Amino acid sequence: MKHYLFSFLILAPILACAGAGLPEAGTADADLYLKKCTTCHSWAHPGRHTKVEWDHYLGLMESHMDKEGIPFSPEEKQVIQSYLYRNAR
Ligand code: HEC
Repeated sequence: MKHYLFSFLILAPILACAGAGLPEAGTADADLYLKKCTTCHSWAHPGRHTKVEWDHYLGLMESHMDKEGIPFSPEEKQVIQSYLYRNAR
């Protein structure tokens, strides 16, 4: 119990900060983006790339995840793709 509380107190502000400056921060779509796309590196601002560039990166990241055995369902990919599209450059 003590451990749990400790993790919460330490992690909550870090997690809150992790999404600072992210478009649509706090929504389910932005959370999914953070969850799936910060395993190997920190998140890139969606406005950094065009839709075409995001398609390229999503394909590339899909194969990275495949190689690492990280699950990435078509539904998750679709949600993240439309999230990135809405906020793309
Ligand atoms: C399995 C690890 C892994 C995951 C998970 C991952 N990436 Fe990457 N990402 C990489 C690697 C490795 C690179 C370095 C470039 C390369 O080798 O493709 C990279 C580079 C990038 C780049 C280009 C560099 C930059 O900062 O502009 C973007 C954009 C990117 N990733 C976006 C994403 C998105 C969006 C997701 C979620 C769908 C994601 N990544 C999830 C491994 C990962």
